[in-house]
Amino acid sequence: MYRSKTCGELRSTNSGEIVTLAGWVQRTRKMGGMTFVDIRDRYGVTQLVFNQESNSELCERANKLGREFVIQATGMVAERSSKNANLDTGDIEILVSELTVLNESVTPPFTIEDNTDGGDDIRMKYRYLDLRRNAVRSNMMLRHQIAFETRRFLDQQNFLEVETPILIGSTPEGARDFVVPSRMNLGQFYALPQSPQLFKQLLMVSGFDRYFQIAKCFRDEDLRADRQPEFTQIDCEMSFVEQEDVLQIFEGLIRHLFNYIKGIEFDGAFPRMTYADAMKFYGSDKPDIRFDMKFVELKEVVSGKDFAVFDSANYVGGICAPGCATYTRKQIDELTEFVKRPQIGAKGLVYIKVENDGSFKSSIDKFYNQDELKTIAALFNAQPGDLILILAGDTAKTQKALNELRLEMGNRLGLRDKNVFKPLWVVDFPLFEWDEDTQRYYAMHHPFTSPKLEDLSFLDTDPGKVRANAYDMVVNGVELGGGSIRIHDSKLQNRMFELLGFTPEKAEAQFGFLMSAFKYGAPPHGGLAFGLDRLVSLFAGLDSIRDCIAFPKNNSGRDVMIDAPSAIDASQLEELHLTLIPPATN
Ligand code: AMO
Repeated sequence: MYRSKTCGELRSTNSGEIVTLAGWVQRTRKMGGMTFVDIRDRYGVTQLVFNQESNSELCERANKLGREFVIQATGMVAERSSKNANLDTGDIEILVSELTVLNESVTPPFTIEDNTDGGDDIRMKYRYLDLRRNAVRSNMMLRHQIAFETRRFLDQQNFLEVETPILIGSTPEGARDFVVPSRMNLGQFYALPQSPQLFKQLLMVSGFDRYFQIAKCFRDEDLRADRQPEFTQIDCEMSFVEQEDVLQIFEGLIRHLFNYIKGIEFDGAFPRMTYADAMKFYGSDKPDIRFDMKFVELKEVVSGKDFAVFDSANYVGGICAPGCATYTRKQIDELTEFVKRPQIGAKGLVYIKVENDGSFKSSIDKFYNQDELKTIAALFNAQPGDLILILAGDTAKTQKALNELRLEMGNRLGLRDKNVFKPLWVVDFPLFEWDEDTQRYYAMHHPFTSPKLEDLSFLDTDPGKVRANAYDMVVNGVELGGGSIRIHDSKLQNRMFELLGFTPEKAEAQFGFLMSAFKYGAPPHGGLAFGLDRLVSLFAGLDSIRDCIAFPKNNSGRDVMIDAPSAIDASQLEELHLTLIPPATN
């Protein structure tokens, strides 16, 4: 038997017991004739004590232990004279009588401590060592708990877990596919699934009624803190449901997880906001409603005062930052630089300060007198001490920039507390979005999303106006999940493909199997998928989903530990009949 106890479980009630522990050497300290060794395993850390006087040979061996050696120690549990309140096992120590080195370790490239000296890159390269650290391990444990509880909840609701294939066919919509060449079908490629979308719909045709899967998904898209090229969805689908049924069930799942794992109960139903309102008041389809600071549209009130910036803009809007009238010139300049960053793209920033005496100081004093500024401030319900920040320009771009500015002010004012959770359903998404570059409509969610019945008449006349039975769950400004009620009628589905620019041949080639399945009695169905990585990082308060993935990719999509992707052997290429074209150099 390698061990009788773990390194995290001994307490003073165990005093006098003879135990055997096994684990890694966290650190050794020599104090006079005593040597203290902290031994660590997944469950915790326990202090081992070696006494030069009572057993010098054993103590000498303990002195030679290096960091991360794997050891086994047997001894008696003793109550400590000076207890360590920071450690669960801090009341006891082990007076060691036997020590075995099970394996040595070279010096690790960074210290395996909570406050490690290892930077991001080195920790990713040695991720298996990083995973020994408490913070990273506890994220993995949380992930396990969430996945486990999700399975339990959905099982109780009659959902059936079904695995769907990883090697599938490429589809042109959505993100870029990762593709895999087929040796047995030369010149042909599989694609890795961006989600199990079509399979789960087919399972509804098969009569499975309630499906879920904790599924790996793959998308070759630009990476951000909340995006990985391979990520995990809690993917679900239900038959004979309307939007309301789906929202109820999955609000239930999220409530359950918050309650069970974080001990948080939400009062009342999750609020709902239409996509139109989300854009109008927050400039984002995933508003962070932990704080207010809603947009106020100003175009009408500010036009016609010879201020060209406002007169020429399609959209003028602002936010009111409470208590920020004290902002200095330098702070306002910083904010101006912030909104002018290329990724935000505003041309400038207008401010109005409401002074304590109720007067106004602003960057547009030349164009607007005190009364006019007062009228503007009244629209924000601005109080003395507040700072109004205004952007102007093209509607979509300016709303997007104002959203960034709002979030920045939320950060500066400490209004985005990671321990406060504000869930929200965003509903009534448009069915299509127009793309200027390619001059065509794209499905906002995906091509299988059903239009709202009451908007069907616009499908032929003004597709941009059609709303979808689509919904997202947003928590603290993070899109946690999304889904829709699907089209289950092959005629309507064909019409969708047509509107999305598919020729009948192309639709047949891509989705023929689905259209064919729909001819055999497809039930009304709908579903959604949550991002498991995002859910875990939200619960853990992480800045990046990378931290809750055991072996993540870096921002260039590389796994630096195994050094992938990598070149393959010429023989492998030959077998696949593939030739590489060297990248163009210019
Ligand atoms: P969607 O594309 O909205 O919907 O994805 C669902 C959820 O998956 C998560 N997610 C990601 N997480 C990490 N990295 C990524 N690159 C990434 N992309 C998406 C998000 C998102 O809300 N088949 C549909 C669902 C449906 O209609 O049922 C789908 O995939 O949390």
